[in-house]
Amino acid sequence: MLFGKTILVTGVASGIGARTANLAAQMGADVIGVDVREPANGSAAFIKGDLSTAAGVADIVAQLPTRLDAIANVAGLSGNTGIVSTLSVNFYGLRALSEAVAPRLREGGAIINVASIAGYGWRANLERAKALTGIDGFPDVAAVAAKHDLRDEEGYPLSKELLLLWTMRAAHQPLFKQRGIRVNAVSPGPVETPILKQFRAVLGDARVDSDITRVGRAGTSADIAPAVLFLCSDGARWINGANLAADGGLEASINAEVLGF
Ligand SMILES: NC(=O)c1ccc[n+]([C@@H]2O[C@H](COP(=O)([O-])OP(=O)(O)OC[C@H]3O[C@@H](n4cnc5c(N)ncnc54)[C@H](O)[C@@H]3O)[C@@H](O)[C@H]2O)c1
Repeated sequence: MLFGKTILVTGVASGIGARTANLAAQMGADVIGVDVREPANGSAAFIKGDLSTAAGVADIVAQLPTRLDAIANVAGLSGNTGIVSTLSVNFYGLRALSEAVAPRLREGGAIINVASIAGYGWRANLERAKALTGIDGFPDVAAVAAKHDLRDEEGYPLSKELLLLWTMRAAHQPLFKQRGIRVNAVSPGPVETPILKQFRAVLGDARVDSDITRVGRAGTSADIAPAVLFLCSDGARWINGANLAADGGLEASINAEVLGF
């Protein structure tokens, strides 16, 4: 279902992005990879670019072809570089790229945002998420963080809360909706990639180990890539604004605890 499709994959130099790009290529797609770092064994078309600034996003967009079928927004930071870079890459840069590329996506194309179980708190923190996703364009993120009194340690979960809320808003945003472009999210639990070590440092071993224990093992990039690519495919043509948990059952377990069933 991906044969002949052109798919943009960000975060292609490592982990989930690398696996998604490889699998998409195996399934017959033409892959354009984006990352701030060079991939070690890059075979697909690659654009070295930085999603953390408006200028970086514009530079990436200038190098893209005029027609694409899907964007897999996989690139992300763990939060260990502070709230400004984390919100910039994980949300505002991702959104700016998606909005800039939207006119080049074919009708019925797809955007997949790799969020996280870490964004689970979007409902509990709804007013903050509404305010921060309501800011148009690529803002001065340092000023946003100062205005909303945001702390470095909340950068990662907050970035994913914003991404989950925006995924639902974007599904009904005229820029995408008028041309039938679907916008969905995939939320992994802990996945064995380089970022997991950073999560251990940011969140603590106890939190990460508890999540892994709930579902028996950590995920691998190979567990996540097929979920991302399914949402890219026409097989997902009636799925829009949804969040697909790819976490071995972690969200179900947390729901049971939080909601008491
Ligand atoms: N691994 C996990 O446990 C886990 C769990 C939930 C969600 N996620 C999400 O999955 C996505 C992929 O993470 P991963 O596990 O593959 O981690 P990873 O660290 O292996 O890969 C992240 C990639 O993003 C790239 N990147 C970072 N900043 C960038 C920038 N400014 N511009 C362009 N590219 C940039 C990095 O260079 C890297 O190649 C992230 O959004 C992450 O939040 C991961």
